[in-house]
Amino acid sequence: MRACSHKLAAGSNPGPSELGLPEFGLSQEDLWGIVGLIHDFDYEKYPSLEDHPYRGNEILKERGWPEVIRRAIMSHAEYSGVTRETPMERCLFACDELAGFITAVALIKPGKSLAEVDAKSVRKRMKDKAFARKVNRDDIVNGAAALGVDLDEHISFCIAALRGIAAELGLDGSAAKVTASP
Ligand SMILES: [Fe+2]
Repeated sequence: MRACSHKLAAGSNPGPSELGLPEFGLSQEDLWGIVGLIHDFDYEKYPSLEDHPYRGNEILKERGWPEVIRRAIMSHAEYSGVTRETPMERCLFACDELAGFITAVALIKPGKSLAEVDAKSVRKRMKDKAFARKVNRDDIVNGAAALGVDLDEHISFCIAALRGIAAELGLDGSAAKVTASP
């Protein structure tokens, strides 16, 4: 979701009413970040298509989480029937599978580092059906299209965003150094 703030940064910044942002004292960046952070929180316990993200939605509703967050979470599952209407919802979908795929590409690089990943290498791996086969390539392509951004540009932006937290992700090259040390 951090990557998706490029829509905000680009000036196509929807107002609070347009987003349905309630009075929680959250900036849009905070809101988008929270949605990105928690959208799969129920997946580990409830991974089936029948449960995820429905169980999570129920849990959040019981605890009083706002509709704007719950709706975005529901919309990231194609099969939920909840359409993606807001920039936040479209960004969640556009970045979700792609972030996992970029991570997978980084992990096969010699240095296990995001610094070794670019849009070209991601596009090349997208054509390799055996690589990270659980990642739906159509979701990546359609997600960028729905955002109205060029796919290469979107991939590059997401790589850059992930590089910003590479150390936290363990994708700053330190994993390869640990492996290589005697
Ligand atoms: Fe999910």
